[in-house]
Order: sequence, then C-alpha cells, then structure tokens
Amino acid sequence: MDRRDFLADLSRVAALAATVPNVWRVTTRPRFADDPFQLGVASGDPTPTGGVLWTRLAPRPLEPDGGMPGPRTVVSWEVANDDAFKTIAKQGRATAAAELSYSLHINVDGLTPDRWYFYRFTAGGAVSPIGRLRTTPAAGTTSPLRFAVASCQHYEQGLFTAYGHLAKEELDLVTHLGDYIYEYGTYTGRVRQHNALEIRSLDDYRRRYALYKSDPLLRDAHARCPWVVTWDDHEVDNNYAASIGENVMESEEQMQARRAAAYQAWWEHQPVRVPRARSWADLNITRAFDWGSLARFWVLDGRQYRSDQPCEDGNKDVPCGNWADPSRTMLGVRQERWVADGLAASRARWQVLANQVMVAPCDLDPGPGARVAMDQWSGYPAARDRLLASIAAHAPNETVVLTGDIHSHWANNLHAGFARPDRPVVGAEFVTTSIASGGDGNPSPTFDPTTLNPHIKWYADQRGYITCVVEPNAWTAEYRTVPFVTRPDAPIATPAKWRVTRGRPGIERA
Ligand SMILES: [Fe+2]
Repeated sequence: MDRRDFLADLSRVAALAATVPNVWRVTTRPRFADDPFQLGVASGDPTPTGGVLWTRLAPRPLEPDGGMPGPRTVVSWEVANDDAFKTIAKQGRATAAAELSYSLHINVDGLTPDRWYFYRFTAGGAVSPIGRLRTTPAAGTTSPLRFAVASCQHYEQGLFTAYGHLAKEELDLVTHLGDYIYEYGTYTGRVRQHNALEIRSLDDYRRRYALYKSDPLLRDAHARCPWVVTWDDHEVDNNYAASIGENVMESEEQMQARRAAAYQAWWEHQPVRVPRARSWADLNITRAFDWGSLARFWVLDGRQYRSDQPCEDGNKDVPCGNWADPSRTMLGVRQERWVADGLAASRARWQVLANQVMVAPCDLDPGPGARVAMDQWSGYPAARDRLLASIAAHAPNETVVLTGDIHSHWANNLHAGFARPDRPVVGAEFVTTSIASGGDGNPSPTFDPTTLNPHIKWYADQRGYITCVVEPNAWTAEYRTVPFVTRPDAPIATPAKWRVTRGRPGIERA
C-alpha cells in the first residue's frame, strides 16, 4: 500500500486536525498539574533500523485535553543501548500539541537490526517510564520470533491480569487484533463515574483511551516490547460496517463523523506511523511488517471497507438474502488485491494475516442446514473463498491467520474452500480469546464447536492470549489462560499448544 514516511514535524500533519489553535505558542518549560506521563509509553511497528515511540502528555488523564495547559510543549526523547541511558543511540526533540491530544509519535531510524533498545521521554523536568524497543532482524535472516497475540479488553468486564503474565514472558513483539477499547456506556465494575451513553465525540474517545491506559498492567505490557496494532469494531461502534452503524437511526453521515473522531483518537493512542489519509474518517491502517525473512505480517482492516452484514447480522441460516453475492467484500477491492498480490510476491518463510474476525466457519445448526455468524468471514463466503484461493495458490501451508473478536480460544484448520468438505487444508487459524471481555469465562463450557465442525480442533472459554514461537520450519501456538479476571492475581496456565509444520497440511498438538 502507498504509505509515506512518518512526519516528524507536527505542523505537516496539521491538515488532519480539525483545528490548529495556539500555533504560535510553544513552551520548552511546561508546568504540569501532575505527572504528565501517567498514560505510559509504547513502541510499535518496528523495522530493522527503528520503530515508532509513543507517549501522550496527560497530567489529568480524564479531563479534557488531559489536563494540559494550552501551549504546544517541547518534549525530548532518547534511545539508549542500556537501561541506565549511559550510551545514547539516538535522541531528539518533538512538539506535542492540543490538536493531537499532546500525543507524540517519534519515528526512530538509524538503529542496528535485531537488538533491544531502551527509550524514554522528558518534558519540563518530568521523566517518563522507560520502554523497550526491539528492532527486527535484517532481511535475509530467519532468526526465530516469539510474540504474543491479544484482543478484546473490555475494561469494565475484567482485570487485565493476562497482560501481567504476558509482560513477564520474553517476547519480541505483541500483536493486538482490536477491541482495544469498548464504546459502550459504562455502568458497573471498575468505573466510578457512570455514563449510560455510547461514546461518539473525539473528546469521548480520547477519555476512553485514557481510562484504559490508566491500567498499570496494560501500560507495562506496552513498555515491555513493540506492539503491532490493528482495530476491530469497538474502537468505533459494535459491528459497524464501513459507514453503516449498529444503530439504524445513526445516519451514514453521522457514522462518518463518528469514524473520524474514533480513528483520530485511536491513532493518537497507538504507536503507529502516520499513514496517508485524506481525512481522519478515511485513515488507512492496512500495512505489512517483516520479521527478517522469517515472517511477513499482513495487518488487515476488516471494518472500514466491508460490505454490510447480510440478512440483518446475527447468526443466520444460510443461504439467505444476498449472503452469497460475489460482489460483497470483507477487505474492500484494493486491500483484497494487495493481500493476493502480496502473497504471490512474498519470499518470507511464513505469511501471517493479522485479522479481526474468524475465517473458519462455525456451523451452529445440529441439523442438515448451516447457521453461521454474519459478522465473521462466514457472512462473506465469496470473499472468503477468494482469500483461501489466494492462500492455496501462493502460500499453502505456510500461512497462519491470527484472529480475535469472539472472546474464546480456537485452533482451526483452513481449507482451500469451505463449500465442499474435501478441499485440502492450506492454512492454520489461531483465534485468541479476550484479555478481559466476557468476564471470568467457563473452564468447562457446554458449547463445543468441534463436534459439528471437523476443521475446528480445539476451543476454550477463558480469558488470556496466545504466545507464538516461530521458527523457519515450525510454528507453535501456546494458548494461555487465566481462571478468573473479576478479582486480581489469577495464575496463568497453558491448556493447549498447537503446531504447524511448514509445508505440511493440518495443525497438530504440540
Ligand atoms: Fe471484543
């Protein structure tokens, strides 16, 4: 996809901001009402020679503008070889401004491939927590990769205990597949201020991110290693599709405005480079990411470009309505072609799709018919067949799909098509459960999708994440779970490990 380099000078992205107040006022000696680094630090989108460093100045995180005084504020940043910052590898200064909620996205370059660095920010005498950035191996190398997959962290439904365990692992990377925030009104649980309304404005979304990032376990997980982040629906609105919201009373114009606010707030709080965008409502976050020549990640956006869910969404008996219409799309024409062309051209050992909703079908009808989820790829069967045909043609059994969304762990075989059961297996899908959404879960669920769906090999309904160990010829997915999230200090367990051998069809127990 056509992307431009990160714009270090904030004034060059001012066109993306709704207003540009105080452009003439810049302070190098800000006075903060409280610690301005309470939302922590993050690194992301690493390259062989750098990555993005993120922070946001917010001395009063839940107040408008994070409690910042008006002027633009100069912030210094340092990248060091050591956590004492004795040997500085790179340093610089950047300006934080109200129109981007005093967030900073530093595009660091010129570092050495395949090694760890430490970074921090300083402003007005305040010093941020120290974060770690790892550069990726250089092209041509196939050093192993160990990374975690996370999604779905409904703050009011559970503690982020899983992140506490994730941060203790030796990980090179975290991929987050969306539902980083939830847009619902907040009634219960961890939130004291009650707000029954869904969030819609830029200020609402900013405060929601600030609330989530007040969680120390989430902040520590970000500081620990670089993240590669995409979004799903709840960063904007439950089950939205392009400009069509969940609530039929919300017009497409209203949804465009809501998307602009939600996408801007998302970017302000994530360690992601500035992409090319005509407006915030069209923010394009689709991107590829390489771990040497071991793995190429295709970071997908399955929300912004999709056709509306068929048959009024939900779980439906199929066929129904325009369900099978081949013009219906999950990724949009451009993104779909980008994946297909990319899979054909990639020389990496593994192709990895960082994806939102489940690709494998799950038939819920015990009878001869089929009932499937309209919001998942099962609601877009022609688009799914095209994706699976690309995988079968260009990267069979070297493709792994990583999925979130459904608050449960799944291990699935992907066939070249699902219309006929005799099509060969061409890929694996590892679906991660939620960090917190859904509460404690159930160690012995009555629902068992494996009996009706032979390509689904394993299922569990507890909170957690997946740790993937990727080697040139083998990929192991270790499913981590915590037994509860409604009270602190749950231990971590690994109830299952599944493995793919490169070039061999079908996942196996490891
Ligand atoms: Fe979710």
